[in-house]
Amino acid sequence: MVHAIPVKRALVAMVALAGVAVWQAPAASASVPLKDITHRYVGSAVAASYLASEPDYRAVLTREFDNVTPENEMKWGTIEAVRGQYDWSGADAIVRYAQAHHKTVRGHTLVWHSQLPDWVAALPAGELRRVLRDHITTEVKRYKGKIRAWDVVNEIFNEDGTRRDTVFQQKLGDGFVADVFRWAHAADPSATLYINDYNIEGKNPKSDAVYDLVKTLRRQGVPIGGVGVQAHLSIQYGFPEGYQANLKRLTSLGVDVAVTEADVRIPTPPDAAKLDTQASYFDQLWDGCQAVRKCVEFTAWGFTDRHSWVPDVFPGEGAACLFDADLKPKPAYTRINP
Ligand code: G3I
Repeated sequence: MVHAIPVKRALVAMVALAGVAVWQAPAASASVPLKDITHRYVGSAVAASYLASEPDYRAVLTREFDNVTPENEMKWGTIEAVRGQYDWSGADAIVRYAQAHHKTVRGHTLVWHSQLPDWVAALPAGELRRVLRDHITTEVKRYKGKIRAWDVVNEIFNEDGTRRDTVFQQKLGDGFVADVFRWAHAADPSATLYINDYNIEGKNPKSDAVYDLVKTLRRQGVPIGGVGVQAHLSIQYGFPEGYQANLKRLTSLGVDVAVTEADVRIPTPPDAAKLDTQASYFDQLWDGCQAVRKCVEFTAWGFTDRHSWVPDVFPGEGAACLFDADLKPKPAYTRINP
């Protein structure tokens, strides 16, 4: 565990000195929420349905985190599954919650090949470009000023660093990436715009490709402001080599980095040794971010084993979060926040 200069707390103290609020130093124990031990944003993916129906889930989220990322509610497949019929209910609810509780929102995600409605995938190139522009403009404008950061493009690279063969790539070519960043920026100039991907925690062909693309886009004046490192890890595959150095080299391009979807899955059932290894992975993820000046956010992909995408996608693995299904902090949590 490494704690960076607690700027968020210092700000609260300054406000108190100015007579606006009374602030007391929190006790140095686990009773200090995660969000208050660092000046980075500390977030979790959330689901609007659990937020509405589970008071204990909502309470832990509210206490521990100061950023929320809608897990599915802002994806194209959710908001416009049928052309022209919008469902903003889940996204609106999460943004309302964030505003009421003074939390920031990471918008997720504008352009992704997955959870993409079939009607979009079927469009010819010219129409796809127009519809994509409308989609981005409509969604980003709806939440203008309320989203701190947007995952504009998600998972556009293969493991070998070539572009993923998506409908956007096939029909619009390499240049679609610069276009979508420009459209998003025009719709909300205040949001920081990210490229986001998995398996780019360490230095490898995929993170090299992200690095090269960001460098090119910055040189072209494209309004990209950050790289999101998802950090879906498994204790079976070792901790990514060169993680901290990779974060640092990305920030050398003049952009922020963020850990956007951290979880560490373990082969089930969990035992003390596996949970200890998991704790060490989470701690390394956390510390690496704390050590890089422009690593501005640490967001977990869900905070409780009660709700996690992992068992559905990786049978035989799970227990990937900081809190167990009863919302008790796991060793991973207490390693970061003893
Ligand atoms: O909402 C429907 C429900 O009506 C239906 O009955 C049910 C039956 O399968 O499906 C429900 O939708 C599911 C949705 O999650 C909401 O629960 C989808 O099937 C399911 O595919 C979807 O999974 C999400 C996945 O992205 C989609 O690819 C996961 O919750 C979500 O955690 C996951 O998140 C991604 C990030 O966006 C990008 N990075 C990787 C990460 C993990 O895969």
